[in-house]
Amino acid sequence: MTTPLHTPLCDLLGSRYPIVQTGMGWVATPELVAAVCNAGAFGFLAAATLRPEDVGDAIAEIKQLTDRPFGVNFLMDAPGADVITESIIAHRVQAAGYNRAPSAELITRLKDAGVVCMPTCGAVKHAVKAEKLGADAIVVQGGEGGGHTGSVPSTLLVSQCADAVRVPIVAAGGFRDGRGLVAALAFGAKGVAMGTRFVLTRESPVPDATAQRYLQAGVDDVVVSTALDGMPQRMIVNELLRELESKGGVARLWLALRSALALRKTTGASIPDLLRSGLAMRRHERMSRAQMLMAANAPMLAKRAMQDGDPVGGYLPSGTVAGVIDDRPSCEELVARIVSEAEAILKDLGS
Ligand SMILES: Cc1cc2nc3c(=O)[nH]c(=O)nc-3n(C[C@H](O)[C@H](O)[C@H](O)COP(=O)(O)O)c2cc1C
Repeated sequence: MTTPLHTPLCDLLGSRYPIVQTGMGWVATPELVAAVCNAGAFGFLAAATLRPEDVGDAIAEIKQLTDRPFGVNFLMDAPGADVITESIIAHRVQAAGYNRAPSAELITRLKDAGVVCMPTCGAVKHAVKAEKLGADAIVVQGGEGGGHTGSVPSTLLVSQCADAVRVPIVAAGGFRDGRGLVAALAFGAKGVAMGTRFVLTRESPVPDATAQRYLQAGVDDVVVSTALDGMPQRMIVNELLRELESKGGVARLWLALRSALALRKTTGASIPDLLRSGLAMRRHERMSRAQMLMAANAPMLAKRAMQDGDPVGGYLPSGTVAGVIDDRPSCEELVARIVSEAEAILKDLGS
């Protein structure tokens, strides 16, 4: 049946609804992705925080839990990106998500194999470039979004990008309900992508102690800081952030070194690999040397909060939207609620 909620994004991704769960390190696990897809939305596995050689197993795990299509999100400039690309192709994964430093070579390989390429961009010029490089759809994340983020609000950026490119736009940053979905469609997007909202679902692996911090946060508790890795990151204020903001350069450098060693242990990347990845990021993001050295902080400190359950000493990446979320439904309940709200609004507007 054709309804306003069946958009070209649904056809591209093979999902029932134009709702996407984004790739979030330590959070977007096989269980969450499968629950999202079984609910009629489209989930991305976060591959950046897995060993590249383990991504194939994680994909196989998702396939055990759902027969719906799903995607894999990864960093194209990180060590093992070619291994992940081959796993995506070999397992016939529906879509690949990526953001910084897109690789023309990997995009061509994915497209030749029929994988939908869906990068995330935070600026109009990046969306234009992503389309030129072959993107089939683009997630456009406004400044309200969690993690690394820009400064232009979703309300402006989404319509700017929808005017600037021809491929379907997916609005991200600040979405959580049916009102947001209808608004995104009105701004010219063909769907919404949500991170924070899916962190707070029952199938999300985030331990309760950490989830409570998100549920208790008000909109003023979600801020942008460069203290973590020198790049603007949106997160919930906590003890770690206050400490980092009061620390000098040497103490931050020490933390960065410890994070780099921990990342090496977790993803299997060697120190030269990490440096190569840092240099590629530096070229793409115009980072300073200090920022490059701090690049391992975000994933390792996020692990402490999102996997180990320490919301005091870990980093709490979050969209501003956490300030207006106060429940932890199942993915099925959440998606059904968003769809029925959106349908009711569209009906009201139509009458
Ligand atoms: C807990 C959390 C972890 C995230 N981890 C990543 C990540 O590893 N890589 C990435 O590209 N984006 C990451 N993001 C950003 C999201 O993928 C998404 O773009 C953003 O959350 C959308 O905004 P919203 O939170 O307002 O929905 C993360 C966001 C959150 C909330």
